[in-house]
Amino acid sequence: MPDVSGGAIGLKEAELKAVVAYLQDLAGAEVTVSIPTGLGQTQTKEASAPAAAPRPPAKDAPTLLAQFTCTACHKVKGQGGVLGPDLSKIGATRDKNYLRRAILDPNAEITKGFVPTMPPNYGEQMYAKEVEMLVDYLAGLK
Ligand code: HEC
Repeated sequence: MPDVSGGAIGLKEAELKAVVAYLQDLAGAEVTVSIPTGLGQTQTKEASAPAAAPRPPAKDAPTLLAQFTCTACHKVKGQGGVLGPDLSKIGATRDKNYLRRAILDPNAEITKGFVPTMPPNYGEQMYAKEVEMLVDYLAGLK
């Protein structure tokens, strides 16, 4: 009989007991070994351990505009890029529902005269709270 707890087979004590219990059960005999519970728990904990800490939400809308590179394409208060519409007075013509959709689903309606290049995945990158912060801020630009 090969050494099943060493070498290439390397069964652990609990695994050996499980095999014995299986064979006893298979033979119709009374199962006399008890298998330790909580197997693999330490392993699972280690494997799923330190996930990266979640990003803290941005503290205000101007931080968000910079952090999510909105101002690379949009002017806000006269400052920024020109790939997208100037947002400096966006609140005068667009309501909150429109603004929210423009951020979460930019291709739902393409602003006339612009090529649809706005990133479509802000909804996956921002916290809901951050989206609302931006919507409130933009709606207030008049
Ligand atoms: C890569 C360039 C780019 C980036 C980055 C970008 N946008 Fe845009 N955005 C556009 C373009 C182009 C349009 C117009 C075409 C369209 O409707 O998709 C637009 C449209 C909009 C509109 C609608 C404007 C209108 O007059 O109808 C809003 C609001 C807006 N963007 C907000 C944002 C915000 C907020 C961010 C950052 C979270 C952002 N954009 C990031 C390019 C960009």
